[in-house]
Amino acid sequence: MATNELDWANLSFGYVPTDYNVRSTFRDGKWSPIEETDSTTIDLHIAATALHYGQEIFEGLKAFRGKDGKIRIFRLEENARRIAESARGLLMAPVTEELFKEMVIRAVKLNERFVPPYGSGASLYIRPVEIGLSAQVGVAPAKEYAFIVFVTPVGPYFKEGFKPTNICIMREYDRVAPKGTGRWKVGGNYAASLQAGMKAHELGYSAVLYLDPKEKKYLDECGPANFFAIKDGKYITPASDSILPSITNKSLMTLARDMGMEVEQRHILLEELADVTEAAACGTAAVASPVAEIDDLDTGHKYVILPDRKPGPVVTALYDRLRAIQLGEYPDEHGWNTVL
Ligand code: PLP
Ligand code: COI
Repeated sequence: MATNELDWANLSFGYVPTDYNVRSTFRDGKWSPIEETDSTTIDLHIAATALHYGQEIFEGLKAFRGKDGKIRIFRLEENARRIAESARGLLMAPVTEELFKEMVIRAVKLNERFVPPYGSGASLYIRPVEIGLSAQVGVAPAKEYAFIVFVTPVGPYFKEGFKPTNICIMREYDRVAPKGTGRWKVGGNYAASLQAGMKAHELGYSAVLYLDPKEKKYLDECGPANFFAIKDGKYITPASDSILPSITNKSLMTLARDMGMEVEQRHILLEELADVTEAAACGTAAVASPVAEIDDLDTGHKYVILPDRKPGPVVTALYDRLRAIQLGEYPDEHGWNTVL
């Protein structure tokens, strides 16, 4: 595809074909040399564990074209660590941090022409994925695995971009079990979220705010993103075993502290939403998407966070600082960027 056909500023969060992806196979206890390919398909055994028993994990991170023209990959090491955690969670072979970094950098460099220009608001989304390859009919982990990294240029995840949206609470669905796979980035978690997500979209909400699956008393996370709010001037975000430890959330907590705010990561009762002044969904894809209103569809209660539907000052400041670091406009004081 010719990149001059791409309307960078109006990209959605979708799949645009790029030039190459990179792959490695785990066999006989070791990862193979990296293969570069322009093929977008894989040859998979019909009894592969990825197909039958859900041995599939992935990551999501982004590369940005900076003000200085350089490409920056955000928090590469953190994503490397998290996919290895997910692998251990599903008894898959963990990808080494070294291999992960090398493959992500290689995938970005090979597709450099797809890194959106500075100022477009778009970025290059990097999707590492690992699957179990071995044929297995009894429920057991595979012996062989494939690790693949592909990239695709993307715009905002919520089509509204930084415009506040409404989210909803529905108790009839859980994405994960209380001591289940929620803390890992496992494909099955997303399969389990499809019905609730679809219903929310049909009702005009951008995402579902899940409650903790055990007691349904505490806030958990927000569709494919973590949740945070501002209460009494503090940054509060749920502590929970059933949510993905978001690298964006971790970064925003650091930035909030840098800006002199107190940060609390703790159980947050649903009712506390009545006292929050701002709220947002945060993640690689969502960045920090302000929330205007949270509707509890079971009780009919509406928590109106932003009556004028304008992003609040704290979420705006955090979003701006995060973006500025990613784009090389603000000093990378915490060493989060890998500059190519
Ligand atoms: N929670 C879920 C369920 C997600 O899919 C994501 C996206 O990766 C996040 C949270 C945010 O995590 P991160 O900030 O590391 O992208
Ligand atoms: C991300 O933010 O990277 C995600 O994985 C969200 C998603 C589109 C599943």
